[in-house]
Amino acid sequence: MKTVIIGGGGLVGSCAAFALQCGGIVREIVLVDVNAEMVEGQALDMLHGSCLTGDQKIYAATTDTVKDADMVVITAGLRRKPDESRLDLINRNVELFRKILVDMKKAGVKPTAHVFVVSNPVDVLTYLAIKELGLPATQVYGLGTVLDTIRLRSLLADKLNAPPTQVQTLILGEHGDSMVPIWSAAQVAGLPLDKWPGVNQNLIQEVEKRTRGSGAEVIKKKGGAGFAVGLAIRDVVECVALDQRRILPVSSLQNGAFGLRDVAISVPTPMGRKGVLGHIEIELWPKEKTALQNSGKVLRETIDKVIK
Ligand code: 2OP
Repeated sequence: MKTVIIGGGGLVGSCAAFALQCGGIVREIVLVDVNAEMVEGQALDMLHGSCLTGDQKIYAATTDTVKDADMVVITAGLRRKPDESRLDLINRNVELFRKILVDMKKAGVKPTAHVFVVSNPVDVLTYLAIKELGLPATQVYGLGTVLDTIRLRSLLADKLNAPPTQVQTLILGEHGDSMVPIWSAAQVAGLPLDKWPGVNQNLIQEVEKRTRGSGAEVIKKKGGAGFAVGLAIRDVVECVALDQRRILPVSSLQNGAFGLRDVAISVPTPMGRKGVLGHIEIELWPKEKTALQNSGKVLRETIDKVIK
């Protein structure tokens, strides 16, 4: 699968590219960026290690490379300041994102191409890409709360001193302030979370608060997320490449699940080689369902404001 990363010269894009290289699954990793020198350097640095990772083609190119791409990952965008919400970014990034979409349409994308949005505010920009690219909505999706979900799982495991791969839960809704942790689904090694030694309401609230603030925390400490968001991107790309049909909280256009319509937002979504295969309306606690619907409302109001 030829995977093009627009913004591949930046922190998020280059970490995603390196994660895909280490994963060894996609056949071709192509980096595109306005900073030509930087993106060539990123690709070259990765190429230097390719004999230890896998038989993949890794190179830098200009946007017209999307014409025969199977998957275009868009990570380009300005980063928010620690005290800014992702929605604050909206005005600065919508114009930049629109230009990327115009350049992609000019180059021409295959009718079977997938477009995977990471740039923030990711749910609004995913909606914009669906509306403007003219591809089937099932082939255009966003990272959504996949990153928030792996942060929650990993921070919870760290707090409980439990194996991170055996801590299961998820976050739905907006990749932003109105995100909804689904504690009703939380498990450790198949056991309900509340049966795990040391778990109490304070611990849960503390981990939830840290998860919600993780984006801002990592921006403050090191300027922005890289490693975890790169791994989150790889998880989605490889699930699609291998047609695994795993259920991931990617952001996609809703058509009724949980009462959500005409908004791109994260719900449990089986992902395969054809992209979004459906939406699974799992049973939630009433307060979780209300919060999810509120998240949809927040996003719908923003879309109405910025997408004319
Ligand atoms: C984050 O939460 C990049 O929005 C991403 O770090």
